[in-house]
Amino acid sequence: MVRKNRLPIFPNDYLEEKAEEYDSSKWMERNQKRTTSLCIQYLFDDRLNVNGVTEINLGKSYLILDLGCGTGYSSEILIQNGFRVVAIDILYDMISKAREKKRTSDNFKELEFIQSDINNLPIRVNSIDHIISISSYNFIIHGLENYSEKVKLVNDTGKYLHNILKQYGRVVIEFYPKDDNELKMFNKSFVKNGFEGFMVKNDPNQKSGQTFLLLKKS
Ligand SMILES: C[S@@+](CC[C@H](N)C(=O)[O-])C[C@H]1O[C@@H](n2cnc3c(N)ncnc32)[C@H](O)[C@@H]1O
Repeated sequence: MVRKNRLPIFPNDYLEEKAEEYDSSKWMERNQKRTTSLCIQYLFDDRLNVNGVTEINLGKSYLILDLGCGTGYSSEILIQNGFRVVAIDILYDMISKAREKKRTSDNFKELEFIQSDINNLPIRVNSIDHIISISSYNFIIHGLENYSEKVKLVNDTGKYLHNILKQYGRVVIEFYPKDDNELKMFNKSFVKNGFEGFMVKNDPNQKSGQTFLLLKKS
């Protein structure tokens, strides 16, 4: 999610007092929760059905991965919508705040937090129903300068996400690619690894900025 006036910088904007600031910002909470609700609608989007056949049911308690869970705003909305959640974040400063919420609130009971890198997930093959990621996925290439290294990493991650999903698994990613090339690179990493779907932007001519990928295992 965009900070009020600029895109956040990883990891600096999520460490120490910045993590504290993130977690106490009502604006941030509202935005993350609103975006998560929209992504849940996208998860059930009819346009992902093939030949009118719905493979996903509203009433079912699916196991979902929340990739880059931060301090747990998105996870809380997933729980409220009946999902069982495994929430992943790489930074102790962020996920420790989410864990604290689990200790002190009944809202977080059906939730497991794992401190881990999205690019190296400790998750079994064929074990997850669906995946969601809010305002985090563009950070997975952080620290890589070389284009071919970035391509390799996003491909490996796309392949692994495909492997851990069960049949009919869906993925909704809301993220902020920095330009059209980066968006194409992320997109290809899914198409190449057995996903189908489409993207949604607020403005179809927009080349970078907030983008939603709606995908399913094909
Ligand atoms: C905007 S915050 C996420 C917000 C989250 N959806 C929420 O509700 O609070 C972005 C998060 O992505 C995490 N992140 C960035 N790169 C990551 C990676 N490679 N693996 C796991 N988490 C990562 C950051 O640590 C940060 O907590």
